[in-house]
Amino acid sequence: MCTSVKNPLMHGSNRSHLARCLVLCTAFILAGCGGSSSDNNPGNGAANLAPGQDDEPVPENTRFNTATNFSVTREPGPRLPEPEEILELTDVEFNRGLPAAVLQTPDGLDTSINQPPFFENLQNLEVLAGDTIEVVYQPQDPDGELPGMFPEKLPQGAQFVDNFDGSKTFTWQPLQMDVGINRFTVTAVDAADQRYRSSQSILIKVVLPEDSSTIPNVAPMLDTILAHTVRVNDPVVFELKGIDLNGTVPTIEIPDLPAMASVEQDPRFNEIYVLKVVPTTVGEFTIDVLVRDSVDPGLFVTEQVSFNVLAPSAFDRPGTALRALAQNRDIDIGFAALQSFYHRPDGALYADTAAREFSIVTPENSMKMDHINPQPGRYQFAATDNLVSFARQYGMRIHGHPLIWYRQLPAWVEATQPQDREGLMRDYITNIMSRYQSDITLWDVVNEPLSDNGGFRDSVWFEAMGERYIDLALQQARRVDPSATLLINEFDIAFAGPKFDALLQLVDNLQARQIPLDGIGFQLHLFADFDQFDELASHFAAIAARGLDIYITELDVSLSANTTLSTQADVYQQIATICLQQSRCRALQMWGLTDQYSFRSNFDPLPFDRAYQAKPAYRALQQALENSR
Ligand code: G3I
Repeated sequence: MCTSVKNPLMHGSNRSHLARCLVLCTAFILAGCGGSSSDNNPGNGAANLAPGQDDEPVPENTRFNTATNFSVTREPGPRLPEPEEILELTDVEFNRGLPAAVLQTPDGLDTSINQPPFFENLQNLEVLAGDTIEVVYQPQDPDGELPGMFPEKLPQGAQFVDNFDGSKTFTWQPLQMDVGINRFTVTAVDAADQRYRSSQSILIKVVLPEDSSTIPNVAPMLDTILAHTVRVNDPVVFELKGIDLNGTVPTIEIPDLPAMASVEQDPRFNEIYVLKVVPTTVGEFTIDVLVRDSVDPGLFVTEQVSFNVLAPSAFDRPGTALRALAQNRDIDIGFAALQSFYHRPDGALYADTAAREFSIVTPENSMKMDHINPQPGRYQFAATDNLVSFARQYGMRIHGHPLIWYRQLPAWVEATQPQDREGLMRDYITNIMSRYQSDITLWDVVNEPLSDNGGFRDSVWFEAMGERYIDLALQQARRVDPSATLLINEFDIAFAGPKFDALLQLVDNLQARQIPLDGIGFQLHLFADFDQFDELASHFAAIAARGLDIYITELDVSLSANTTLSTQADVYQQIATICLQQSRCRALQMWGLTDQYSFRSNFDPLPFDRAYQAKPAYRALQQALENSR
């Protein structure tokens, strides 16, 4: 293994971790400056001001979306940084040297006979922007086999090339956009047990040379755009984003703008140009997009945006829509809505398909705390408000998700002191539930409180309040909206094991303490070889026996090497039948609508494919809803 840095620099000059702490502490100070919205805040700690007028979304220009039958708003102020943009790496981590390898050890592995793979001689690097790095990775395995290897996230423009001798070479020319400390992680996979993995990061510090003219000016590019299928005469919107690794903002031009089309720079995000076109004929559409360097106008690339246009009849489906069939069986059937789906090219088709087939909708991401409350006293409601408008337009119920979760927490919450978190949690529940009280009547109040082995999952909430946080969250939710249905939502409780046992114990303890709880959400993220149907039915019965409702909240059935669309359909049909045969099962909700936008899109887990064509799973759901009595 060798590391060669062309134009090598002195290693070792470091930046401090202090910057990240400053970010967190700043967030905390900001939090401390706010007043609390409720008298529940125990002191002057991290308070979270209730939403104010300046959090109210404003109407969005219809030129920027594909919403046809409901109003769309956008956030009022400047764009807030994405959560991952806040947590920059700084010098203290770089100074600490090479990060420790992170091991992923499967349950039951006997480490005395199988050692993890590892990488040798890696080191943090420091390089000038414009120079090229070459690092050869050669994973080792004490058991003598040849480990597999894959990079977690390649930087723009980087390569990770196979040398076909068990080693791979990472090549990268960082530019102005990469100045700072970057993490590059490669995972080695044990040959004997692929679940046994070792992830090794290196930190790469990129600094600007004194003379920036030594940095090559590279051509800009167009951000990746998925292939899309749309419907004739629907509005189609593309958010075209230019990327220039030199850190400048390229301009975008459409040399031959089609009829019935417009293109204009988004007034809030100057790197985005919104192309809107209404295709009036079926067929494959291709539009040339010219991305021009803002420093050297003679430097540009022409890339193509293409999409497939089908007639409305191409989306007709035999039989009765799922929504109508489910209504006849007195249950809801639903999906998780892609955040801001009306900003996607196929947003009109997405909305129409959802409205025809589903009676309940869950926001996939827009109500997660790091999105909806990214800074103390700051809120981003537009995406959720728009989903409420959509649901109102089509008479859909809304499933609020999530309130209290261990993930997707904004940096300012992570930075709070434990003693401030009960008040913070109460304020948050009050602020969010109150805003949507007239539209959202069902809530995942506590999401995924249990760990795989049946203990309580570690989180800022559990650290501060122990398991009482669950009691307090449910009590606060009941206090805010006495008529709402309150759930605990969990995954991997469809089959026997310590986690479901712990869930039953949790429910019994909550009920013994008269803590309000109306039901349990079974997420059901499954693979198509799932076969523990009897166990699932018995788990539903155990929850029903405790007087609680059951919601299937996040159903998706991922295909794997040895499964087919038919086996996938059979799992959907059996899950739906089990729900229909359990009188306390109130809803069957999928985690998405089309494979195009699934969080597991590589496994095609949903009833609609990327072209909105019904898969056998859709037909299987129809049959279950028509038959099982
Ligand atoms: O919106 C940002 C985008 O601006 C940024 O460029 C991009 C790249 O970093 O990230 C985007 O945010 C991502 C978000 O999905 C929207 O795509 C987050 O990084 C990513 O972490 C987030 O993943 C979601 C995940 O929950 C974590 O919140 C998945 O979409 C979502 O399907 C998944 O859903 C969860 C349920 O809420 C709870 N049950 C399990 C289920 C699956 O993990």
